[in-house]
Amino acid sequence: MSVLFKDIYVLTPSGRAEKSSVYVSGERIVSVGEAPEGSKADRVIDGKDRLLMPGLVNSHTHVYMTMFRSCADDIPFSDWLFRRIMPLEDQMTPDDCYWATLLGYTEMLSTGTTASLDMYVFTETAVRAAEEAKVRAVLCRGLSGGADDEAGGKRRLDEAQKEISAYRGKNPLISFMLGPHAPYTCDEGYLKETAELAASLDLPMTIHVSESKNEIETVREKYACTPVEFLDRAGVLTDRTVAAHCVFLTDGDIDILVRRGVNAAINPVSNLKLGNGVAPVVKMQKRGVKLCLGTDGAASNNALNMFRDMGCLCLLHKGMSGDAAAVGAADALKMATVGGARALGLEDVGEIKPGMKADLTVIDLDRPWLRPFNDPASSLIYSATGSEVESVMVNGKFLLDKGELTTIDRERVYYETEKTCRRLGLL
Ligand code: NI
Repeated sequence: MSVLFKDIYVLTPSGRAEKSSVYVSGERIVSVGEAPEGSKADRVIDGKDRLLMPGLVNSHTHVYMTMFRSCADDIPFSDWLFRRIMPLEDQMTPDDCYWATLLGYTEMLSTGTTASLDMYVFTETAVRAAEEAKVRAVLCRGLSGGADDEAGGKRRLDEAQKEISAYRGKNPLISFMLGPHAPYTCDEGYLKETAELAASLDLPMTIHVSESKNEIETVREKYACTPVEFLDRAGVLTDRTVAAHCVFLTDGDIDILVRRGVNAAINPVSNLKLGNGVAPVVKMQKRGVKLCLGTDGAASNNALNMFRDMGCLCLLHKGMSGDAAAVGAADALKMATVGGARALGLEDVGEIKPGMKADLTVIDLDRPWLRPFNDPASSLIYSATGSEVESVMVNGKFLLDKGELTTIDRERVYYETEKTCRRLGLL
């Protein structure tokens, strides 16, 4: 299958949009500029009033949490997590998670996201949903517990290892990480064991880090250091680690993140909504921390729409720093595309250039709020809502084709997720 996106605005790595043509053959982008001589595309997409951008990469989320959208809002973070979300999670079956995960992929594809890092509960259903949706997914089971906790933490780690070895390498769109949940849900011995296992299996890691004030205090009391110092001591922080949140960081913490080459996944909407604060993005940029962007789960965001997070990120840091030049549209786009791709270990996605995998999003610019086309790239951040996404391609295949999902039955997904919500007493 070959596709020619003809005379279309193409988002460049510098965050500008230029008229060009992009030729895709099989899984990859073959050319950008003129279509290769003699090439006959199976399908030609007319680029009139359209913009082509790399598929967005959501670097921190819990896809199944769409089930808990809008059911635990406007309450304090610790109540939200321990009293509301965790008891609900305990009642979820693998099948519930499967349908909720498909709902998450439905939402992500509808708003231009082609790849995500998903911390989930049940491996089999997370893999099945990603495989059926045909999205690019980096998967990790959320791990918590202690090194001496044979029935809990140890069991989960053993199971995760077995599950990963069963699925790893079977589907080129799916890869794995080890995902210890957080410094306050895993003890030091457990983190060390997880880090050793990650090294021996050649797996990256992801973990929630310095998300709330409560976490800072808990870790300070228990270990007399910051969460970042604690994780560094446990060997969790490497250049393949994705550290989600990074809201409360000392200058020393930022030094560690830079020294270790850690990827910081910033979640501005979730952090604001849970009252956790604002990550020091401007400072991290200046010091050279590798940055990417995530939505977190729909229980705290309450969407998996990266356009909201990109817009929020820019406005928030301009407001916080008192500098309108802080965190521009190009910065947000970079974090949400190539920054995320590299953080997730995806070397050949995130940019539109020859040889890259064809993970692409088509934006319909024929909306009053995107006219005139003075700077379509800037409009993506400051004017777009995500509703302008018309088509989405992953690995050279259209998963959203002019508004129609090609791999997911949306009506069935709505029906099944609502059935679960009624059983859980949410609906
Ligand atoms: Ni999270």
